[in-house]
Amino acid sequence: MDGLEGVIVAETTTSAVDGEAGELLLRGWPVSELAGVIPFERVASLFLHGSVDAPPVDLGPGRAAAFERIDRLGGALDLADGMDALRASVAQLDSATAAPELAAAVAVFAAAWSRRSRGLAPVPPDPTSSHAADYLRMVHDRAPSADEAAAMDAYFATVVDHGMNASTFAARVVASTESDRVSAIVAAIGALKGRLHGGAPGPVLDMLDAVGEPEAAEAWIRAALARGERVMGMGHRVYRVRDPRAAVLERALEGLADRGDDARLALARAVERAAERVLAADKPGRAIRANVEFYTATLLEALGLPRGSFTPTFASARVIGWCAHYDEQRASGRLIRPRSRYVGPRPASAA
Ligand code: COA
Repeated sequence: MDGLEGVIVAETTTSAVDGEAGELLLRGWPVSELAGVIPFERVASLFLHGSVDAPPVDLGPGRAAAFERIDRLGGALDLADGMDALRASVAQLDSATAAPELAAAVAVFAAAWSRRSRGLAPVPPDPTSSHAADYLRMVHDRAPSADEAAAMDAYFATVVDHGMNASTFAARVVASTESDRVSAIVAAIGALKGRLHGGAPGPVLDMLDAVGEPEAAEAWIRAALARGERVMGMGHRVYRVRDPRAAVLERALEGLADRGDDARLALARAVERAAERVLAADKPGRAIRANVEFYTATLLEALGLPRGSFTPTFASARVIGWCAHYDEQRASGRLIRPRSRYVGPRPASAA
């Protein structure tokens, strides 16, 4: 019961996670056949319209409209934490905002916060650019290379949806009350912020920094476990094998390796192997393998994104999945209203 593990709370056509086989289907497609193969705008169409053959979702106009709003967001984008800033800025959108505009706004606010947090002015979007390339351009104020844009696009598609994860469930709970889409997305952003969900990539890099070199990995992991810490980027509630998204992101990273990130990739691989070995001995019977955050961290770092921007970047892609779940819940779901078992005190007279 604790954590609702194994409990089915909805029927869905969005995505299927097979934790034993290590398979993720996105509207019936294996993640490895979509991410890095089909542009994110088509993946968005698959999620919002149900088919890759539908016209790609044009997120450009929504980016332009969202940028227009930035000066009217008050102090939302000045909050110190990127997810707090995202929550506060998205909350100001009109509750009737349609899914493409909402998704575009999340990316624009995430990029603008990334600039502001570094004391830089937000960069206006180029509505004619691809969503992934424009996201990088809005963060860096320079056009990305084709390889960088492709890696960003692959990342967005990889994390677009993932079964009944905590933020998706949060969105569906809000949708089930017949509340509006923006409210559902704000709830999802709040859930994604937590480090047991979307907040792990930054700590993964802290770990890589602390390990320093491949040879030091095993001893470092042993010491961390001895201190009672968890190895960030390892383990998953559903997967009992390696998260299939880790392989897709590792492939995207290889596409960037000619930019001189080979050493970091080699370190990440060494830490993953060491963590697998040590955790297998430490927790026999519980396969703890790399999750999506492990290579997210390495990939987003290679794309030059500041660590504080990692979870807002995740949200910029996942918002499409949240919107698809919102629609599905509104179309077919009932009010989500589970029960709790009261274990607190009762009046003496009832004893
Ligand atoms: N490092 C060390 N031990 C871990 C571990 C990790 N990354 N992940 C799980 N374990 C251990 C737990 O300590 C626990 O051991 P115990 O039974 O002796 O107490 C056992 O494995 C089961 O852990 P539990 O918390 O029940 O698993 P879960 O399904 O709730 O956890 C995560 C899933 C993701 C919360 C967990 O693996 C974790 O904390 N990982 C690190 C954070 C992370 O990478 N988050 C991003 C997720 S995409």
